[in-house]
Amino acid sequence: MTDLASVNFFADPDISQSPYEYWDYLREQGPVIQEPHFGVYAVTGYQEVVAAFKDHASFSAVNAIGGPFPPLPFTPEGDDISGQIEAHRHLFPIHEHMVVMDPPHHDRARSLLAKLLTPRRLKANEDYMWQLVDSQIDAIIGNGRCEFLSEYAKPFATSAIIDLLGVPEEDRPEFLAALGAERPEGNRVGALDGEPVGLDPLQYLDDKFSGYLAERRREPRGDVLSGMATALYPDGSTPEILEVAKPATFLFAAGQETVTKLLSAAVQTLGDRPDYQQHLRENPDGIPTFIEEALRMHSPTKIDFRLVRRTTSLGGVHLPAGSVVMLCLGAANRDPRKFEDPHEFRPDRKNVREHIAFGRGIHTCAGAPLARVEGQITVRRMLDRMADIRIDESVHGPADRRDYTYEPTFLLRGLTQLRIEYTPAS
Ligand code: HEM
Repeated sequence: MTDLASVNFFADPDISQSPYEYWDYLREQGPVIQEPHFGVYAVTGYQEVVAAFKDHASFSAVNAIGGPFPPLPFTPEGDDISGQIEAHRHLFPIHEHMVVMDPPHHDRARSLLAKLLTPRRLKANEDYMWQLVDSQIDAIIGNGRCEFLSEYAKPFATSAIIDLLGVPEEDRPEFLAALGAERPEGNRVGALDGEPVGLDPLQYLDDKFSGYLAERRREPRGDVLSGMATALYPDGSTPEILEVAKPATFLFAAGQETVTKLLSAAVQTLGDRPDYQQHLRENPDGIPTFIEEALRMHSPTKIDFRLVRRTTSLGGVHLPAGSVVMLCLGAANRDPRKFEDPHEFRPDRKNVREHIAFGRGIHTCAGAPLARVEGQITVRRMLDRMADIRIDESVHGPADRRDYTYEPTFLLRGLTQLRIEYTPAS
């Protein structure tokens, strides 16, 4: 029995397999509690997490990915460390990506992304995904079984972003290979899970996109990349090439692993609950709500960090400037003050869309519409084309004693593998 009071959330292998009991324990002590190992303030209350996300004047995103790792590159002084943050910003991990930027730089980076993620582009991308889902199911349906992450979810998530960005057709196989999406144990874009990767995929992507964008600035072609290459900042000034390439390449870091985890959680739930399969086959209109509940229950981004920029208080707890705050999205999404019977998967939960799996405030996930569509289309076509979806009991055990293994990271939550079996629909 784990002594919850002394848990090291960042290193405990049992807690990475199931953090829920620990989070409930913390919330019972209070919605904001300082953990004993790194002095990080863990926020497990829904209301408090939302409040911190929205208050970007008090909470900086500069440490959003790393939290207490590495330690702050300066000793906080006084009740407002804004100046110290700016002086040391270049020393924080992935400082050049928008997820860790604060206003006004964040507004500028996000404005370039908004030029790419237009309703028209998202619609064209969705149309592409309907074809993609079927060609991927074609590849696995005949075998009657697959390892869902490597054979479906990962290549699907990667191809969706490749298409969104308008990567030329002839270069797509190279991208899939470089991003490890065409073989089971390939490289991963590591920026968001903090793990080293063999090849530096973000560097590869920066180089590729800088090349495309430079070429299209010289000779615009009327394609998606040309639109990005010629996008201006809201004040009419022209961004540096790399300032356009970074928001584009970051989509891979943000949208590959997270979507893979969402899709596998959704399919795992279907495999465990044949009654949901039946219900959704008969009522496909229920699929969007089912996906939202999968996001709430399994929150692929478990936690997010903030650095207290100005001394403040949250949930009645005094937070001195320089404190590291851990916003536990997976815990907030199971806060009983917000969600009734929070540990129960309810495919028709009424207030499910209020979950915060995509964060809140100025950094709200820019890819949320895309991720939602990916989940909905995948479930829809799998249910159409598979008469039943079963968990492979030879790997994951029988229904009353399932054996699932989750990635041992503190940042993301997702299965390491999901073996399923199915019968093609007649
Ligand atoms: C189920 C899948 C996904 C989940 C759970 C997820 C979760 C999140 C969360 C929680 C944030 C906020 C981070 C913060 O405030 O510190 C975020 C930001 C972001 N996400 Fe996602 N994401 C997903 C899929 C995607 C996809 C598919 C894309 C793009 C193709 C994407 C692009 C981004 C970007 C660019 C940001 C940074 C936004 C900003 O800083 O303004 N995400 N995501």
